[in-house]
Amino acid sequence: MIHRKTLLLAGALLSACMPVAGWADATAETDYFRARWDPIHFQPAISKATDEQCLACHQEVLERKPVAQSPAGLKAANALAWYQTLDTYEGEQLTFHARHLLSDYAGRVMDLSCTTCHQGNDPRDETSGTSATAQQGLTMRKMVDPWVCVMCHGQFNAQKMGIPGPWLENSSVFGDSCLTCHAAIKTERHKDIAFLKADAIEEAGKKSADACYGCHGGRAWYRINFPYADRQWPGWGQPPAGAASKYPRKDPSQAAK
Ligand code: HEC
Ligand code: HEC
Ligand code: HEC
Ligand code: HEC
Ligand code: HEC
Repeated sequence: MIHRKTLLLAGALLSACMPVAGWADATAETDYFRARWDPIHFQPAISKATDEQCLACHQEVLERKPVAQSPAGLKAANALAWYQTLDTYEGEQLTFHARHLLSDYAGRVMDLSCTTCHQGNDPRDETSGTSATAQQGLTMRKMVDPWVCVMCHGQFNAQKMGIPGPWLENSSVFGDSCLTCHAAIKTERHKDIAFLKADAIEEAGKKSADACYGCHGGRAWYRINFPYADRQWPGWGQPPAGAASKYPRKDPSQAAK
């Protein structure tokens, strides 16, 4: 009896302490709603969170496997989507999270964290402007800001490069390599973005244009281009007319950890 009473008291004390005990302590007793509204999901805490902290509750995002067969009976092993045809795509179909975080190729050329893409959204509202206190800058019904994706999944900007049409129809003219031109122009790239491994990207680009193309048009989920920084490169002349103000660009380095 006494024992039980002491335990109950300890329990009551523990729950009374919970709100001040801090957030994201996965070992602490918690419940669904406390976890769901854990401040780690929101700014400013999310910008300092580590992958380990997120994975303490969300390990499943890395462990899930895609289904082996669609409800209509199409086997994944017999299907190949257009975005799986690039040279860089190796091995079996992975989930979205595993493809960006666990695949060999992803590990070689980039270093994404949970918070590169997840920068805090309001799960109750999922859009901005519904009230005076609503979180600003949300993209409707999205848990991530799609601008982060467009950096690596926008269109190939052939027009700007002076290439007559789509890359795949014209690549042979340029020796099937982006570096035919890009060894000399726009050589300042990738280095100041925390989640890109600039040297490894250059190596991959020497072996196959698909490495470059994969992030610059070959896997375009969007109809638009990303307004890249337009950095100067050694030997760079005058900017094209209007170029300086042409890029109302969201600084991708802010999306970096
Ligand atoms: C204390 C446990 C816990 C931690 C730590 C945690 N989460 Fe969550 N998270 C939850 C729970 C619970 C939910 C609600 C899940 C549901 O309803 O299916 C959730 C939901 C989410 C969602 C869905 C959001 C939506 O709008 O529906 C995302 C994305 C997410 N978490 C990302 C993260 C990221 C990124 C981190 C690290 C910065 C993180 N979580 C840390 C427990 C946690
Ligand atoms: C490349 C960008 C990217 C990275 C990196 C990323 N996520 Fe996500 N995550 C997404 C997108 C996109 C969705 C789907 C969002 C939607 O439906 O609006 C998502 C959905 C989720 C969800 C809710 C749905 C589900 O699958 O359970 C959770 C939880 C989540 N992510 C956690 C994480 C954690 C934890 C990490 C780090 C280990 C992480 N994410 C890394 C882009 C990313
Ligand atoms: C830093 C660059 C980068 C960012 C940011 C990025 N991706 Fe990717 N994504 C890649 C690369 C590289 C691959 C393919 C890797 C390979 O070939 O193995 C890929 C693959 C994919 C795939 C195919 C997954 C599969 O397994 O078949 C989807 C879908 C995708 N990305 C969507 C998104 C979305 C949505 C976002 C934003 C939330 C996003 N990506 C952000 C680089 C990126
Ligand atoms: C014919 C030469 C040529 C080839 C081949 C070429 N590019 Fe370009 N690219 C350019 C030029 C020139 C620019 C700069 C245009 C400007 O700044 O006005 C450029 C700019 C870019 C930009 C920045 C675009 C922007 O919107 O600011 C990216 C990204 C790019 N190239 C990637 C690639 C990739 C990936 C390949 C191979 C699949 C490739 N390029 C092949 C000439 C080329
Ligand atoms: C893993 C994805 C990824 C790969 C692979 C990749 N890039 Fe990029 N690239 C990016 C991102 C993200 C940016 C935007 C970074 C920034 O604003 O500096 C970028 C920017 C650029 C720019 C524009 C720089 C500026 O200042 O306007 C050029 C040019 C470019 N890349 C060329 C290439 C070439 C050539 C290759 C192959 C050798 C390549 N990229 C491979 C992700 C990638």
